[in-house]
Parts: sequence; C-alpha cells; structure tokens
Amino acid sequence: MGRGWMWFVVCAACSGGGTSEGSDTPVPATEACEAYIDCVAAADPAGLDDVIAAYGEDGSCYGESVDCSAACDDGARDLFALTAEPACDLEDTTVSGTPEEAALAVVDAHCLGCHSAASALGNLDLETDFVGGTVGVVGAYDELIVAPGDPEASTLYLKVTADPDVPGTDMPPGSGGVPADDAAILRTWIEGL
Ligand code: HEC
Repeated sequence: MGRGWMWFVVCAACSGGGTSEGSDTPVPATEACEAYIDCVAAADPAGLDDVIAAYGEDGSCYGESVDCSAACDDGARDLFALTAEPACDLEDTTVSGTPEEAALAVVDAHCLGCHSAASALGNLDLETDFVGGTVGVVGAYDELIVAPGDPEASTLYLKVTADPDVPGTDMPPGSGGVPADDAAILRTWIEGL
C-alpha cells in the first residue's frame, strides 16, 4: 500500500523509549504496541516488517515506555482513519477509568449539545449531575430514565439503542442511536449500578 513512511514518523516520537538491549530481564511489550502490530498485520501487511523492527522485541521502541504506548496508539489511530480496519480500532482498549467515567465520556461526546445545563432539551440536563439527574429518576414518560441494573427498563438506554419501544424518539434524535461500542459502555454502567 506504499505507506511505509508512516512507521518512521510514528517511531520518531519514541526515540529514547524503552529497550530490551543490555537488560538482564526482558522488557515485556506493551499491550498498546502488541495491538498496533496486530493492526498493521491486518491493515497493511507490507508495512509489518518495519513495524516489528521498531515495536517488536528487538526494536528501539520496544518496552514499557509511556511514550512508546502513546506512539503505538497514535499509529493505530492513524491507520484506522485511513483504512477503517477493525483491528486498528483500539477504542475498546483505550477506554479507561470506571464505568461511570466511560459513560460520562459517551454522554459528553453525543449528548451535551442538547442536554447541557444551558440547553437541557426535553427538560433533561445531563451536564450538571449526570448520575443524580438520571439514576432512579422518573422522566417525562413516567418511566425511569436510568433503572439501576436494568438497561431495558431505562428510557436512556432504549433511546440510545433506538429500541422500537422507545418513548419519544431515539437519541440523538434521528440518528438510529449511538455506535454499538458506546451503547455497550452505557449498558455496562447501568448493569453495574
Ligand atoms: C439534537 C438534540 C439532542 C441530542 C444530541 C440528544 N438529545 Fe436527548 N432529547 C432531545 C429532545 C428534543 C428530547 C425530548 C423528546 C423525546 O423525549 O424524545 C430528548 C429527550 C431525551 C430523554 C428523555 C428524558 C425523559 O424525561 O425521559 C433522554 C433519556 C435523552 N434525551 C437522552 C439522550 C442521550 C443519552 C443523548 C446522547 C446519546 C441525547 N439524549 C442526545 C434532544 C437531544
């Protein structure tokens, strides 16, 4: 595919990163760099040798360095933007924090345009106190906006998955719901309540 330049651009970001050379105990590859190598193998096999040379066991970018992990994440993200190869979509592995923090990130990305404190469409403010304003709270449809432990009984979950039984419209309106990964994050959060 002729995008060999990318590996070197990315690798330059981690010069001085971890190395296994001269060390008594082998440095384990980071999860991020292993994922990046898998991503390149799927998206651009022609670039694989270069990537392994840099991020594999003998590479100067190998090891548990934060810089190297970040470079691998960036490389995978760039490649995903170019190829849409699922193996390069590392969103799942980069979601960090508690289920509540992950849920807040989804709401931040998809919902606050209309459900901020200032706009609060449908009389729903998801910004000021997302948990307090939704969990166990009965909404405009006389149903719980978020029913602890029960996504299917939660108006919010039915809306973001565009369930046919949803009261009102799907959320965001007319979108058919949020991407499946994001719906799964909200589901996990609700189930854990
Ligand atoms: C483009 C504006 C817009 C966006 C973006 C949006 N909403 Fe809404 N939302 C509305 C409107 C308008 C209503 C009232 C109509 C309805 O209930 O279908 C509403 C109502 C709701 C309700 C019903 C509240 C109740 O009282 O039961 C929930 C829950 C909700 N939205 C969740 C979300 C979530 C979660 C997101 C993000 C994934 C989101 N909305 C994104 C406009 C929006």
